[in-house]
Amino acid sequence: MKAKVKEIKYYANVIPISGAKNSALPIICASILCDEEVILNNIPDIEDTKLLIDIMNSIGYQIKLINNTLIIPPIKNINNYIRNKKVSKLRGSYYFIGALMGKMGKLKILHPGGCNLGNRPINYHLDAFRNMNATIKESKKYLKIEGNLIATTHELEFPSVGATINILLASVHIQGSTIISNAAMEPEVTDVCNFLVSMGAKIEGIGTRCLHIQGVKHFKKTNYTIISDRIEAGTFLILGAMHKGITITNIDYTTLTSLINVLKNCGCEISCNHRSITLKRNKPLIPFSIRIGTYPDFPTDLGPQISVLGTQIEGISYLEETIYTKRFSHIVSLKKMGADFYLNDTTLHIHGYTPLHQAELDCYDLRCSAALLLATTLCKNYSVINHIEILFRGYENIEQKLASLGIDFQLMK
Ligand code: EPU
Repeated sequence: MKAKVKEIKYYANVIPISGAKNSALPIICASILCDEEVILNNIPDIEDTKLLIDIMNSIGYQIKLINNTLIIPPIKNINNYIRNKKVSKLRGSYYFIGALMGKMGKLKILHPGGCNLGNRPINYHLDAFRNMNATIKESKKYLKIEGNLIATTHELEFPSVGATINILLASVHIQGSTIISNAAMEPEVTDVCNFLVSMGAKIEGIGTRCLHIQGVKHFKKTNYTIISDRIEAGTFLILGAMHKGITITNIDYTTLTSLINVLKNCGCEISCNHRSITLKRNKPLIPFSIRIGTYPDFPTDLGPQISVLGTQIEGISYLEETIYTKRFSHIVSLKKMGADFYLNDTTLHIHGYTPLHQAELDCYDLRCSAALLLATTLCKNYSVINHIEILFRGYENIEQKLASLGIDFQLMK
C-alpha cells in the first residue's frame, strides 16, 4: 500500500490522542486471567490490536472492538495451541505466553514476530519461565512451554518491558511471593499493573524498578480505561515543533517529560494542563543532544521522529540509540529527501538546516514510517511513501488527524 503526502496549509489544531498500543496488547491478553467479565476502554482501533483480537478469537473468544471498547467475558474452553499465523506478525503476541501460563500452565505458540529493529530475542522471558520451573521446548516454528509455576525472585539482566509484563502475567496467580528486580518502569508496565490490581491482583512497588507480587486465586470483574499513547502524542508534538505548533489532548503529560524537556531546551514554548499539552514555536530552534534509554529517559520509539526535527535546526544535533541495533532504517529515505545524516556507531549526527524535497520513500518499521510521514509534511510537492500500511499498526485515525492539521495524506491504489 502507498500514500502520497504534502502540506497544504498547516493549522496548529487540536489533536486527541488515542489509547496506548503497548498497553492495549498486554492488557487484552491479561484479560484471559480474569474469572469474570472484563471491560476495556480507550483501546486503539489500529492494525496491531486487530491482529491481537483476531488471535484471541482463534483461541475461543468472540470479541469485537466497538467504539474503542472491548467486552471480554470469561470462556470455559481456551485453546492453548496457538497456530494463528498472525502471531508471527506481532511482537506483542508473546503476552499470550504469560497469560496462558498464568491461567493454564501450558501452551504451544508460533514464534512471535514484530518490527525488524535488529536482533530481538526473548531469552529474558524464557529464562524467567525456566526460573519459575517451566520446561520449554523450541522447534523451528513453535514454542512449547509447560509446568506448575512457582513463586520466585527474578533479577532481570536488562529492564525489558516485555519480560517484566510476562512475569507479571504469569505470577499474579501463583501462590506465594514473586519479586521482579530491575523491572521495566515504562508507563505501559504501570498500566498493566494497575489493570491487574483492578481485578484483584496484589502488586507492590508499581512504577519502580522492584515489583512484589503476592499471588491470589480469584480475579473479579473490572471496567478499566487504558492510558493514552505517549508515542503517538510525542509524534504529534514533534510535528508541531516542525511547523507552527500544536495542542494535543487526552494525554498525561508526565509520561512525556523527557521529550518535553528536549523540546523546551530547543526553544519551543510548552504549557501542560491536566489532560493537554500546547506547543508553540516562535523562534528558530537550537540543536539537541539526546541519549535514548529506558523510561524515564528519552524513548527509543521517538528517536526516528525527533531526528526529522533535527534536519530543520541550524547546527549539529546528536541522537544516541542504546536499545536497538537497527533503529535508524528511515535515514536512507531521508537522505533521498536532502537530509544530511552521519551514523557514527550508535550515534546519529544530524547536520541542519536542510530543506527537504519530495521523493519516493520506503517504510521498514512502525516508527520509521512515522518519521517519513513527518518529513513529507515539510514538502510542497507530493512524496510517495511505500508500505504505508506499517503506519496503521500503531496510529489510529491518522488520515483524519493529519487532515485537521492541513496535511494532505491520500492512500493510492
Ligand atoms: N531484549 C533481549 N532479550 C529479551 C527481551 C529484550 O535481548 O528477552 C532486548 C531487545 O532486543 C531490545 C531491548 O532488550 O534490544 C529492549 O527490549 P524490551 O523487551 O524492553 O522491548 P519489547 O518488550 O520487545 C516494547 C515495545 C516496543 C518498545 C520497547 C522499548 C511492545 C509490544 N513493544 O518492546 O515498541 O520499543 O518496549 O520501550 O510493547 C513500538 O511500539 O514501535 C515498539 C517497537
